[in-house]
Amino acid sequence: MAIQWFPGHMHATRKAIKERMKQGIDVVIELIDARLPGSSANPLLASLTDGKPSLKLLNKQDLADPARTQLWLDHYNALPGTRALPLDAGNKAPAKALVAACRELAPLRGGMSKPLRILICGIPNVGKSTLINTLVGKKSAKTGDEPGITKVEQRITLDQDAYLFDTPGMLWPRISIPESGYKLAASGAVGRNALDEEEVALELLDYLRLHYAPLLQARYRLEGDIGTLKIDELLEAIGRKRGAVLGGGRVNLQKAAEILMYEFRQGVLGRISLETPEEFKAWAAAAAIADAERERLAQEKKAQRKGRSSRDSWDAVEE
Ligand code: G4P
Repeated sequence: MAIQWFPGHMHATRKAIKERMKQGIDVVIELIDARLPGSSANPLLASLTDGKPSLKLLNKQDLADPARTQLWLDHYNALPGTRALPLDAGNKAPAKALVAACRELAPLRGGMSKPLRILICGIPNVGKSTLINTLVGKKSAKTGDEPGITKVEQRITLDQDAYLFDTPGMLWPRISIPESGYKLAASGAVGRNALDEEEVALELLDYLRLHYAPLLQARYRLEGDIGTLKIDELLEAIGRKRGAVLGGGRVNLQKAAEILMYEFRQGVLGRISLETPEEFKAWAAAAAIADAERERLAQEKKAQRKGRSSRDSWDAVEE
């Protein structure tokens, strides 16, 4: 799926992160979406932050499947220099747990002469402003569900000797794992104008009926085996149940897609996660093979073009 966003904005954010790293950072907090903890983690972050110790916060865990969240916590906690914690908006005082985890990751920092400097990053709409508002105890950061709103960097005091530096929400320039593109879009990380909602809803539905069929059936009162329906028939059935019908009895699939995505994002369907560590690993491996093949074909084409142009120049000499 082609997702269009704003390379200029992403470029500015990358620059801001690099600049902040130069001034000294001890731990990088990455806020990821607990419903898609692989797809919402920035694959470029480790290189942008010079492999600094990382705390992954799996936010919106109240919306995610608890068993899968545990799998992801185990996955991230097993990585070197990495700690992972679940988080949600209902958590009233997360600062203590965050600072404790960061201190574990940078045990040599602390005290007034060597304060702990923490950078926080995350994709748009993952809940960073909400977290920061909770941390500072007032409405200081911009919140909203349209991604891509740049904010100036701010420094938040978490403890006497622990500071948090904020960065604007950021996606990376190219999402090479197709499954991740759909999941990011379904979660609300990608601006509405940049995607085809019907296409994203069909992909979402395809995953949900395989892994969370009872939740779909209960929410939309669908009877029978929904696995036997074609995926667009299933979206149609949902639209019909919810009254998204046009003149002549045709279902408004765009409206049905919007209903499904809205209810998924709000957690109305139930607690759902769109990937396990195993699945994500397999998708990433397949994407790496596809990328290598694309690169090979591009090189082959380039060589052919080069061969053709040198043949043309020989022909010209012979004439
Ligand atoms: P951002 O700065 O990373 O872009 O995200 P922001 O805090 O603006 O949060 C995006 C949306 O996610 C907000 O909903 C926010 O309330 C919701 N959110 C943040 N953290 C959590 C969480 O842990 N659990 C749940 N369930 N939701 C969370 P919104 O619809 O844009 O606004 P509103 O519902 O707050 O009015």
